[in-house]
Amino acid sequence: MDQQQLSAEIGRRRTFAIISHPDAGKTTLTEKLLLYGGAIHLAGSVKDSRRGGRKTTSDWMEIERQRGISVSTSVLQFDYRGRRVNLLDTPGHHDFSEDTYRTLAAADAAVMLIDCVKGVEPQTIKLFKVCRLRGIPIVTFINKMDRLGREPLELLDEIERVLGIPCAPVNWPVGAGPTFAGVYERGSGRLFQFERGESKADRAVTTVGDLDSPELAEMIGDKVRDQLKEEIELLDVASRPFERGAFLRGEMTPVFFGSAMTNFGIEPFLDNFVDLAPPPGTRRTIKGERAADDPAFSAFVFKIQANMDPRHRDRIAFARVCSGRFLRGMEVLHVRSNTRLALTRSLNFLAHERKQVDEAFAGDVIGIWDPGILRIGDSLCEGEPVEFDGIPRFSPEFFVRVRLTDPAKRKQLKKGLEQLSEEGAVQLFFDRLRMDREPILGAVGVLQFEVVQHRLRSEYGAPIELDRLPYQHARWLEGEVDIATFETRGYSTCVLDVEDRPLVLFESEWAMQRAEKENPKVKFIAAVQPGRSARSAA
Ligand code: G4P
Repeated sequence: MDQQQLSAEIGRRRTFAIISHPDAGKTTLTEKLLLYGGAIHLAGSVKDSRRGGRKTTSDWMEIERQRGISVSTSVLQFDYRGRRVNLLDTPGHHDFSEDTYRTLAAADAAVMLIDCVKGVEPQTIKLFKVCRLRGIPIVTFINKMDRLGREPLELLDEIERVLGIPCAPVNWPVGAGPTFAGVYERGSGRLFQFERGESKADRAVTTVGDLDSPELAEMIGDKVRDQLKEEIELLDVASRPFERGAFLRGEMTPVFFGSAMTNFGIEPFLDNFVDLAPPPGTRRTIKGERAADDPAFSAFVFKIQANMDPRHRDRIAFARVCSGRFLRGMEVLHVRSNTRLALTRSLNFLAHERKQVDEAFAGDVIGIWDPGILRIGDSLCEGEPVEFDGIPRFSPEFFVRVRLTDPAKRKQLKKGLEQLSEEGAVQLFFDRLRMDREPILGAVGVLQFEVVQHRLRSEYGAPIELDRLPYQHARWLEGEVDIATFETRGYSTCVLDVEDRPLVLFESEWAMQRAEKENPKVKFIAAVQPGRSARSAA
């Protein structure tokens, strides 16, 4: 394959994730994107696998089935108008987890899904901030327009006010709630009128016209049409025009309206999205940059999943290809250990089903069978070593102490906790003075504990109880640190992470602020890079 062909393959990739608050309709939208992406037989499978309608393929997914949630992340791939779309499916449960952060590190863009009735919700804000931090371009889709929600202008105002990002509406809804009948595309002046198909699995029947078309007047009446015209005129004056540069920097968001449930607005959204969303670009490495179309293959691991299939008892590392071309069987450098690794067993995943992947390009995600050496954030490459900026470990907000209920299973517990922490399922801490004591687990969402407890029992045979600890914040320490200072406090405690870095757990924001004030020479750090020490003194 020559450079031109390689660049063309990479240039047609669009890799993104959907961010939203639970119930905004992420599962439904994912299914509808698959439907319009031609993977019709799959529409329904995402939801079914989440809700237990499909046979689950692993033991621990039982927990998902029981709770009707998805704890795992899969990658959905489809072709649309000559583009190869990779949708990184983040966990859809009510709880937050580190998986979501890490998945965003592998995405080139995000779709922010907002429920038109509820507006901007807490999890949307949290995820938005992660995208902002990483400079990920965000496209907004305002969903459930078939329900009577807030006024579109009010919603845009809320996004701008709460998230601090200017909105550029690409289209505008015609009617709302039961009268929601189409969208007007501002750039082209085209009006898309929708009618429901026979069933939910059918595409919406779409008629393209304009604001003056007699069909529109007939459908919504002169009065509503005049109001629509007025709104659009107002928008043209009041809203900022779309600027591609600002969007790509994550400083402006194009906005679409629609209803995933009825398929209204999905096609105009997808048509625009594949043009708007950027192809894989240049990624930062520790020493510089790596362009996506560099012919040398490189990738980084953003997720590790052990025991996905109990029949195999294996570990799969999900790697985002950052440059070049992947070919099954190729030998690459595992940069951290400086060893060579033959990638002979590679997979891609579709709603939990595995398929062998023989070839992939920058922008794609591959599942690599891991003999036990890969860690989250690890880089793999051909040629000169490149190391991508790691995936930060975020400070947990929930803490528990592990209590083994069968003392004979200490070894199993140790192995299980080590593996689950390497996998990033949970963060593992130890008391500084008594390393033999039962460890402390930290997570950004409490469901992570439930998953770990379940997996320790079912995969490692280690039954545990978890005792909730009162801490709410954690900070790694850097600078001139005298750890003893933090040991003696009533509202905090000092622990070590798996890389021996000290961190302090605080019971309250107040306790943390006080510690910061009293120790001006110490840096209190909320996110660290695994594998690199946050500790310079101590
Ligand atoms: P999530 O993955 O973001 O958590 O949301 P999900 O797609 O599961 O959707 C949450 C609920 O919102 C579902 O209803 C779904 O049908 C509904 N929904 C999604 N998109 C739309 C939309 O465009 N319009 C309307 N009116 N509803 C929408 P449910 O009652 O929980 O489930 P179901 O019985 O409908 O499957």
